[in-house]
Amino acid sequence: MSAPEIASPSSPPPAGENVGFATLETVFEALGRAAIVLDSEFRILRASFSLDEIAGPGTVASMLGKPIEELVGAKLFGPADTLREALTKGRREEGRRAVLRCGAGSARLVSLTAAVIPQHVSNHCDPRARYLVVVRPAENDDSLLQSMIASHGLVARSPAMLRIVHLVESLSQSTATVLITGESGTGKEVIARTLHVNSLRSTGPFVAVNCGALAADLLESELFGHVKGAFTGAVRDRVGRLELARGGTIFLDEIGDVPLHLQVKLLRVLQERQFERVGESAPRMMDARIIAATNQDLLEMIRAGRFREDLYYRLRVVPIHLPPLRERPEDIALIAQHLLAHIGGRAGRALRLSPDTLNVLETRPWPGNVRELENALEYSVALCSGQTIQIEDLPPELRGTEAQPSLGDAAARSAALPVEISSDPERERIVKALAAHRWNRNRAAQALGVSRSTLWRRMRELGVE
Ligand SMILES: Nc1ncnc2c1ncn2[C@@H]1O[C@H](COP(=O)(O)OP(=O)(O)OP(=O)(O)O)[C@@H](O)[C@H]1O
Ligand SMILES: [Mg+2]
Repeated sequence: MSAPEIASPSSPPPAGENVGFATLETVFEALGRAAIVLDSEFRILRASFSLDEIAGPGTVASMLGKPIEELVGAKLFGPADTLREALTKGRREEGRRAVLRCGAGSARLVSLTAAVIPQHVSNHCDPRARYLVVVRPAENDDSLLQSMIASHGLVARSPAMLRIVHLVESLSQSTATVLITGESGTGKEVIARTLHVNSLRSTGPFVAVNCGALAADLLESELFGHVKGAFTGAVRDRVGRLELARGGTIFLDEIGDVPLHLQVKLLRVLQERQFERVGESAPRMMDARIIAATNQDLLEMIRAGRFREDLYYRLRVVPIHLPPLRERPEDIALIAQHLLAHIGGRAGRALRLSPDTLNVLETRPWPGNVRELENALEYSVALCSGQTIQIEDLPPELRGTEAQPSLGDAAARSAALPVEISSDPERERIVKALAAHRWNRNRAAQALGVSRSTLWRRMRELGVE
């Protein structure tokens, strides 16, 4: 039994010698756990098939021979970490929380127990076997979530969002480029900021660039900077955002809006970590982690020749797709309460939602996602006179048909409102329409079916500021 000591994970000992581990794996599988056997270098020698159930099909096959940190992140098993150290010193560790990578764009919270395999056992089964790690799913542990909520204002309860939270957590030691996709208002920027705050670069700056808000040449000098005289109007040197983000994260929002010729330049930044200021030939090093986001369908844009495929793949090293709010109604109550606490807090008010109101919120399709929910709550808080937000306080377009009967007696309703907000149904209607359209008078007038000048006049007459 001397040769196997130096055998690599790819050359296992004869099958018969693993019977001991096979039995052990069967036992753990029956308990809903997965057993992973590591060699002295913390590489995965064997893993029970139940790991595929926990982490997704194909995990076992793809992880054999790999360092365990590729599966659970470097936090626990990186050279400087405690679990590795404990095992090296022969200690057993129980119930350590870890985030398991589950293929692209997903991760899962688990609990790990790890111990040294006694010499006589490994001699008997596989002399290379040194450590045993037992993995148990820990979906109901929400202490990690609580801390995410507390530190980043990211609220999640649905399985889909929990997987994303776990993924963000598992990326804490990584500087990989991330592409965040999702409909407008789903929380792409929240995730980008959370990734930054939760990373090794959190002490550096977070620099956001809205690539959709600027014309092409402005965007170019915004990103890369320029030198004096590079073009008319370039009266002095200018530092670009890529440089400003040094040591931190650059967030390229609305990446789908970057014109093709700048996509080429960005590709170079990603490939070579180099760029030049406009009008300058000396290359500068880029030292920023890149996170990009879009609500556009980039694959569709690639097919249409409007987005470079090579850039797409460079960006989506780690893809994160945020599902629309209507696909995760479990999150609505929690997010609404969180936002309400925030909005109410600004006005020094403690507010809650009536069960009916919550019911309306939870069954809406929310085309504008969390941002729309936030606006609706802002509106409701402005309208609500008491401590509990009622259906009547919601923006009219949300109240829907079932809510209408309770609005039947408009006079009674308006009588219940404090005088300073409204004592006149017409005034109330106008204020609501204005609030629903963020005080944009054109759109409010349209919604009310009156001309702009009529709205102005009535606002003046009714004293609406
Ligand atoms: N999970 C969440 N928990 C708490 N607040 C959230 C969450 N998701 C989004 N929000 C809030 O909703 C609003 C919209 O989020 P964000 O700006 O991140 O969305 P977005 O996807 O970048 O939208 P857009 O495509 O319109 O730029 C923000 O005010 C944000 O704080
Ligand atoms: Mg955004």
